[in-house]
Amino acid sequence: MNIILIGFMGVGKSEVGRILSSRLKMNFIDTDNIIEGAEGIKISEIFEKKGEPYFRDLETKVITTLHDYDNFVISTGGGIVLREENVKMLKEIGPLVLLASSPDAIYGRLKDEKDRPLLRSEDKMKNIKDILEKRTPIYNKVSDFSVDTSKLSPEQVAEEIVKWLKK
Ligand code: S3P
Repeated sequence: MNIILIGFMGVGKSEVGRILSSRLKMNFIDTDNIIEGAEGIKISEIFEKKGEPYFRDLETKVITTLHDYDNFVISTGGGIVLREENVKMLKEIGPLVLLASSPDAIYGRLKDEKDRPLLRSEDKMKNIKDILEKRTPIYNKVSDFSVDTSKLSPEQVAEEIVKWLKK
């Protein structure tokens, strides 16, 4: 089995994923890291040089390579759920665990962050709220379990997921 972490930018997918994988003696991968490794440049540069549609195609391509994976915690980019085919392929390899956060908590974590190409507007809070509003119904619809990470440490979030898995 694998565990797939989904959710908005800045909710803690990578950090929680690392902690969870070590607790459960699983491997850890992050789809954004795979893309950056394959392209040899950062995600923000891929957006700048090649555009978002090109990046989205890379995301889908990465997911197609995961079908034989076992015993992995897989952290995904926040927009991975935007394509139904991505969700379908991911669900075939494991449950989708949503890490959700309030706009305030996300803003607090990302306010000084320069590496999120989708959050480069003057009004970052509005930017976060707008995208979150569009995506929240999708995140909720596709997830098998969710944890609100707004007020929890990454260790506590990992603990919630472990408890759910034991049920
Ligand atoms: C994106 C989230 C980013 C990265 C890219 C697009 C999104 O990943 O994939 O900048 O559409 O939400 P994180 O969720 O790890 O920040």
